[in-house]
Amino acid sequence: MKNYTNINDLDNLQNTVQETIALKKKPLQYEQLGKDKSICLLFFNNSLRTRLSTQKAAQNLGLNTIVMNFGTEGWQLEYEDGIIMDQNKAEHVKEAAQVISQYCDIIAIRAFASLVDKQKDLAEEILTNFQKYASVPIVNMESSVGHPLQALADAITLEEHRAYHKPKVVLSWAPHPKALPHAVANSFVQMMHLQDADFVITHPKGYELDPNITKNTTIEYNQEKAFKNADFVYVKNWSSFRDYGKVISQDKDWMITKDKMNLTNKGKFMHCLPVRRNVVVADEVLDSENSLVIEQANNRTFAAQIVLKKILENN
Ligand code: CP
Repeated sequence: MKNYTNINDLDNLQNTVQETIALKKKPLQYEQLGKDKSICLLFFNNSLRTRLSTQKAAQNLGLNTIVMNFGTEGWQLEYEDGIIMDQNKAEHVKEAAQVISQYCDIIAIRAFASLVDKQKDLAEEILTNFQKYASVPIVNMESSVGHPLQALADAITLEEHRAYHKPKVVLSWAPHPKALPHAVANSFVQMMHLQDADFVITHPKGYELDPNITKNTTIEYNQEKAFKNADFVYVKNWSSFRDYGKVISQDKDWMITKDKMNLTNKGKFMHCLPVRRNVVVADEVLDSENSLVIEQANNRTFAAQIVLKKILENN
């Protein structure tokens, strides 16, 4: 694997999940692999889990880690070719990506969607330009369109809790006061397309995700109907894709409550975090023994570690 920008960059999701579950039992077994090598983690946006778990993963592989809050501490980057740079952007990505490649063996980037310019977001302006100009592998730590490290951690968590039967997995929209990107939901959908599961997305009308991502996935606009007999309920807010980046309604009735979880097959509650208590999900669900959110966060380390391991082995 040269880069990890999408869950489909993995040769085989199921094999990777099994390899990660094995790795988790002895996480320091490859600590020589990254010896004398470095990874640069570039953050254009805030993070808790991604930042710490990716550093921890790198450390487990013996990689030296350089972290930069690019969004607040780096020069503002220009991405367009042939432009006269006489405004506020001090450096072109062409130089920046090549320069950073001199300092490390892998570049990992977090760069959220603007939720303003749909075409630029869909084109993954930051990620694709770094990929174009860097001479080292690129890892996506959440871009405009996807969050494949989260999706891999979620696949590991699903596998660790799956029963013997084909599971019913529901991705449910939930309310949020701010406009949020589609990346987590998109990557979860793409990951579920690689699973043998009964997969349903539920959201209010108007919150349809990009049809190029959802493809033929079943969409159920009645949340309670969708929850019936679910084994896993994965919850996430996202803004409108059609009316790009807009919060078209708060729909507080869509918050995840104990009554709704009681419709499921003793379903497990999943969320990538951070989560707003009693807006997205009621305390009693988040604090229940069926909540997997801390396990998901823990699996972020091992998801990142298996990805970095595969990149180190292949480059
Ligand atoms: N789930 C996730 O990516 O968390 P952070 O935004 O805190 O990194």
